[in-house]
Amino acid sequence: MSYLDWLPTEKTCKCPEKALNCLSKKEWFRNQIPVWWFRPEELSTKFDLSSRKLHPAIFPTALAVRVIKNYSHLGQTVLDCFSGAGTTLFASKLTGRNAVGIELNPEYAKFAENRLTKLKKKDKKESTKQVQICDDARNILKYIPQDSIDLIWCSPPYWDMLKQKPSTRNLKNQQYLKNNYSDATHDLSNEPELDGFVDSMRDIFSKAVVTLRSGSRFVINTGDFRRKGKLILLHQIYTDLMTDLGLETKNVIIWDRRKEYDTSLFSYPYNFIVSNGMAEYILEFKK
Ligand SMILES: C[S@@+](CC[C@H](N)C(=O)[O-])C[C@H]1O[C@@H](n2cnc3c(N)ncnc32)[C@H](O)[C@@H]1O
Repeated sequence: MSYLDWLPTEKTCKCPEKALNCLSKKEWFRNQIPVWWFRPEELSTKFDLSSRKLHPAIFPTALAVRVIKNYSHLGQTVLDCFSGAGTTLFASKLTGRNAVGIELNPEYAKFAENRLTKLKKKDKKESTKQVQICDDARNILKYIPQDSIDLIWCSPPYWDMLKQKPSTRNLKNQQYLKNNYSDATHDLSNEPELDGFVDSMRDIFSKAVVTLRSGSRFVINTGDFRRKGKLILLHQIYTDLMTDLGLETKNVIIWDRRKEYDTSLFSYPYNFIVSNGMAEYILEFKK
């Protein structure tokens, strides 16, 4: 596609050749603590609040900014293959990175595009590019050249978790507008069986890896959950998939969300069950 003919990009910073990112020692040290958390005001920026009115499961801009700055340089390009309301594109713009987002639902893709247009109007120089594509992530290779991406950062659907009872995902201040992202059959949250979901993820990840430059990072936000009483270890499923695809598991970071949740005592004293949603994963893989 000609509108992505600017790929690949080169870093525009003056960091040493082999440096992983442009972080200061202080930022690097803070990120080394394997449990990441954010202050309430960092979780409710204007962008996040408006996205939440439309989309049932965005990640906060603060998290996207932190990941992007930790695994890429100024001027490089980030890919989000499940870009939703466009948080990664927005965070890329804020941090001086280029970005491409792929999202199946036209309503979310349009929202992301509109938000970006507004932000770009304020930046007359337009020194970086952010592009939103509305399509099935299985078609990534139709748009993105091989070895052209410096960081893949995404949060795939947690299979059919949105269809579960809200009591198992009782985030404070969250409106549960929908119990799926769309009715489309290609929407991964509509896969009827876990095996089918995992096969689709394998297909998408294997294509996404082709677009990633050697030595670059593939970073996934996910969480475990229960389905019909059975614990689904999605973080383990993705780690196995990535290992099969030849990537090295570099780090596992816990995203501590406990302050965002209302919790209650359940199943006492018979069946001890932790509240999985309070701790999500940031999984880092290296190509
Ligand atoms: C967890 S959400 C990502 C939200 C995003 N990180 C944000 O902050 O807005 C997962 C997204 O994957 C999208 N999706 C589901 N199946 C897809 C597919 N086959 N191709 C591309 N996107 C898909 C859903 O519509 C949903 O927006």
